[in-house]
Amino acid sequence: PDPGWAIDADVVVVGSGVAGLTAALRCSAAGARTVVVTKARLDDGSTRWAQGGIAAALGEGDTPEQHLDDTLVAGAGLCDEDAVRLLVTEGPAAVRRLIATGATFDTGADGEILLTREGGHHRRRIAHAGGDATGAEISRALVKAVHETGIETIEDALVLDLLTDGAGRAAGVTLHVMGQGQRDGVGAVHARAVVLATGGMGQVFSSTTNPAVSTGDGVALALRAGAEVSDLEFVQFHPTVLWLGPDAEGQQPLVSEAVRGEGAHLVDADGVRFMVGQHELAELAPRDIVAKGIMRRMRETGAEHMYLDARHFGRRMWEERFPTILAACRAHGIDPVTEPVPVAPAAHYASGGVRTDLHGRTTVEGLYACGEVACTGVHGANRLASNSLLEGLVFAERIADDVTARLVGGDLPARPAGGPAPHTCPLPAPDTRHEIQRTMTAGAGVLRSARSLERAAAGLDALHERAAREPEGGARAAEPCVETWEAANLLLVARALVAAARRREETRGCHWREDRPDRDDAAWRRHLLLRLDGDGT
Ligand code: SIN
Repeated sequence: PDPGWAIDADVVVVGSGVAGLTAALRCSAAGARTVVVTKARLDDGSTRWAQGGIAAALGEGDTPEQHLDDTLVAGAGLCDEDAVRLLVTEGPAAVRRLIATGATFDTGADGEILLTREGGHHRRRIAHAGGDATGAEISRALVKAVHETGIETIEDALVLDLLTDGAGRAAGVTLHVMGQGQRDGVGAVHARAVVLATGGMGQVFSSTTNPAVSTGDGVALALRAGAEVSDLEFVQFHPTVLWLGPDAEGQQPLVSEAVRGEGAHLVDADGVRFMVGQHELAELAPRDIVAKGIMRRMRETGAEHMYLDARHFGRRMWEERFPTILAACRAHGIDPVTEPVPVAPAAHYASGGVRTDLHGRTTVEGLYACGEVACTGVHGANRLASNSLLEGLVFAERIADDVTARLVGGDLPARPAGGPAPHTCPLPAPDTRHEIQRTMTAGAGVLRSARSLERAAAGLDALHERAAREPEGGARAAEPCVETWEAANLLLVARALVAAARRREETRGCHWREDRPDRDDAAWRRHLLLRLDGDGT
């Protein structure tokens, strides 16, 4: 659609989690005219929901080298070691800068930051805030800093497409804005650099820890703009998500790994600690191993969930250390102080995304990506717990430094915005979202096989063809709404994810193929890069 209004900026940052706001603050501090656009309110993305914390080698005796080792092991042979090295060496200073920006972490009586453990970490390395409300505190501090700095923000603004200059270089974005007065409807921000920080795509599955806004908008935009995406098959399923019944849909409450880090046990209905003997770290094995352990036990026993038992923490520890989780459990009639908590895996994190280099540059000139939407190479086939907030921080700072240096150097000139990106997508009816979610959960969830993925691909193709053929529910005939665009994005990223998962004929990290149970380094120690075909499929 043609934009009805337009504004100019040096940099437009799309998204307002830890990555987006960090990039915006640093670009603005360096003198770049920065505009932040975000789909809902500034604090409505995934960052606010992060519980456990942020990993960095801050503790006595810990080193970036040990953090690197744990990250590489979790990544199952597919991490980019240079990217991980940057993450772990620049991480501690980036966390200190975050503290200087105003984020308050939990400290002990001596004033030192308290550190906990999570899966895959051989040391206490996770800084946390408000007990188990780390993301909320980071979000609060960054939103406050953005308001104080006076950075222009546009809320309720769903990004639609990249504007390019005719030679395929980024020149801004188009937006669908709701309820913002003069800037209502479809508009545009023209900019010399575009930073995607739109978060994840957990909403392609029925049950996820991600908020409703995590609909893969950035990956979909990047695909339509001709950018390369990588590692989409590696969707991380968090092992311990509060189990609210077989029909629970949408965002589900997380029960942080930090609960296991502080000594909770995973048990089956008979109280057996089934992770003991499966891995030297038992309940604190890397996330993919724990998720698989839970799924196996569920299958062996015919159960719909397992339990997390932390009754031995006692009331005081639950109240002081895990107030958010305690409240969520109690809101659903479960008291973790007196009973084990029912848990099962649910979609949690996209380890892949828009492929970037070490400066956050994508394969489209002038288009950058950071945070969950990006694939910087630090996560490989399975992200190490609590590395995501850190990745958002470190690579957002790297992007801001690259962008501002290039702006000063004249390397990112203002370009006439020629029009939206080359590929278009059919617009499905808004309620296609649920069909996509059911199809993905049945065929491309935690357990996959050639047959299940083939069924998922066929189901998604049918939805794509239906959307291309006819304006179901009047989606084309009527003015498209946010839900329509979101359904289009979900459908595009779901199809890309399934295409990658079908091609990777092995089990590695969080990609679990029941028909190919082994890791195959000879054939598959490599990345799958995807780009949209000329005809938009
Ligand atoms: C958690 O608190 O378990 C989530 C941490 C993460 O996803 O890194």
